[in-house]
Amino acid sequence: MEKRVSMLLLLILLCTLSNGVYGKSKARIPRFEINRRLKLLNKSAVKTIKSEDGDIIDCVDIYKQPAFDHPALKNHTIQMQPSFIPAVETSNGKLENSRPVVSQLWKRRGSCPKGTIPIRRIRRQDLLRANSLDEFGRKSPEHFERTNKTANQDRIMHLNNTNGPILSPTPENRSTAILLTYGFNFIGASGEINVWNPHVEKPPEFSTAQIWLKNGEVDSFESVEAGWIVSFSLYADTRTRFFIYWTADGYKNTGCFDLTCYAFVQTSKEITIGGALEPGSSTHQQQYVLPLNIFMDPSTSNWWLMYHNITVGYWPGSLFYLLKHSATSVEWGGQVYSFNVRKSPHTKTAMGSGYNAEQLYGLACFIGHPRILDYSKSYKYPTFVGIWKDEYNCYSAINYKEGNGNSEPLFFFGGPGQSPRCP
Ligand SMILES: *[C@@H]1O[C@H](CO)[C@@H](O)[C@H](O)[C@H]1NC(C)=O
Ligand SMILES: *[C@@H]1O[C@H](CO)[C@@H](O)[C@H](O)[C@H]1NC(C)=O
Ligand SMILES: *[C@@H]1O[C@H](CO)[C@@H](O)[C@H](O)[C@H]1NC(C)=O
Ligand SMILES: *[C@@H]1O[C@H](CO)[C@@H](O)[C@H](O)[C@H]1NC(C)=O
Ligand SMILES: *[C@@H]1O[C@H](CO)[C@@H](O)[C@H](O)[C@H]1NC(C)=O
Ligand SMILES: *[C@@H]1O[C@H](CO)[C@@H](O)[C@H](O)[C@H]1NC(C)=O
Repeated sequence: MEKRVSMLLLLILLCTLSNGVYGKSKARIPRFEINRRLKLLNKSAVKTIKSEDGDIIDCVDIYKQPAFDHPALKNHTIQMQPSFIPAVETSNGKLENSRPVVSQLWKRRGSCPKGTIPIRRIRRQDLLRANSLDEFGRKSPEHFERTNKTANQDRIMHLNNTNGPILSPTPENRSTAILLTYGFNFIGASGEINVWNPHVEKPPEFSTAQIWLKNGEVDSFESVEAGWIVSFSLYADTRTRFFIYWTADGYKNTGCFDLTCYAFVQTSKEITIGGALEPGSSTHQQQYVLPLNIFMDPSTSNWWLMYHNITVGYWPGSLFYLLKHSATSVEWGGQVYSFNVRKSPHTKTAMGSGYNAEQLYGLACFIGHPRILDYSKSYKYPTFVGIWKDEYNCYSAINYKEGNGNSEPLFFFGGPGQSPRCP
């Protein structure tokens, strides 16, 4: 009886939500198109796990994963392990993490058998939330706002601009606060991303904390990206999730989140891409991190992704033109996507923890041990770093060095979005 009442309440809640801020259904996508796409996305599972957050995790035969639907990958041979795993050095010389690592919620309910990979099932309602099937699982292209040159100069004052950073000028509808380095050939980057659950006002807004590796021109760059995200439009909830992204043309025609298109080749049965993370950090309590490491295997040009000490899989080098050789910039930090950035009233979507960078450890979100990899095959602190913040009154960033010791700085970023200093 009680169960029924709570089910009813849940239904009412869902109805309220679906008529409220969270997504009135928009353009109608023809039913046959939805069915066709679902058939492609829904691979037959060896085992199915129902996660507590409502996700369905399908354990799919590793050779039947979505990547192999890509025409260019038809004859692809899976690389099961990278030819080397670069050592990640931390400031105290130890390779271990100093902070506890987040886990994934679905793992409480089981694990996937050997020879399979866990895939978060895409359901009909997920596709129905998108404006179009082309838009599903994709970032919108980076259109650039014509910004006032003089005003722009303020924003890049922290960059010692030699070759010009890849990210200027500022893309439309996005606000970032990042630590960055550029101008060399990088074949990897790593960092420990502090995990929080920022408020995201409404779809299609999202908030990320992530690492980017990029190469190419401002409007057609190639990138591989990973981190955590809160996005109702993609996942139908407000949990903090592990995500990946790639593009070969500045988000225009190629690329997607997670495994929603056919590109990333997953080798691990331990990690669900798009899966919810737990636990999150809370103010002045234990701080949890998501340690990520992305590097290119020079023998195959595949870009490998590691979640802590687990090799998750790779983006095949064949997806790219420039990234086949190296990345030329690395960025660590947060991004808010919203139609109401650089506008008043500003979006209330938060970045990081929702606290400003100035509030430092225990309140502000941080990325620890940012490292780059060059052809020396061992991770180092970049020789120079810059800071970029699109809207320093809304989302701030500081590379904070405590005292005068040898300790390296800790990068803090984020903010609440709309606030008295960001009206
Ligand atoms: C997806 O596949 C599973 C079996 O693996 C099936 O039970 C389910 O109905 C399918 N869902 C859709 C929407 O096709
Ligand atoms: C895959 O292999 C077949 C047979 O060897 C060949 O005809 C085809 O062109 C290859 N496809 C790609 C995308 O390389
Ligand atoms: C550009 O920005 C500068 C400084 O913020 C301001 O003085 C100037 O009026 C602006 N010019 C235009 C065309 O908006
Ligand atoms: C950047 O340039 C400024 C002024 O020229 C200088 O004070 C600062 O130390 C430089 N920063 C780095 C990281 O090189
Ligand atoms: C990763 O580290 C954890 C604990 O730090 C350990 O239990 C586990 O065996 C390691 N896994 C791999 C694949 O090295
Ligand atoms: C940016 O936001 C406007 C609404 O303010 C929207 O019309 C446009 O499509 C968005 N562009 C991108 C690239 O997201």
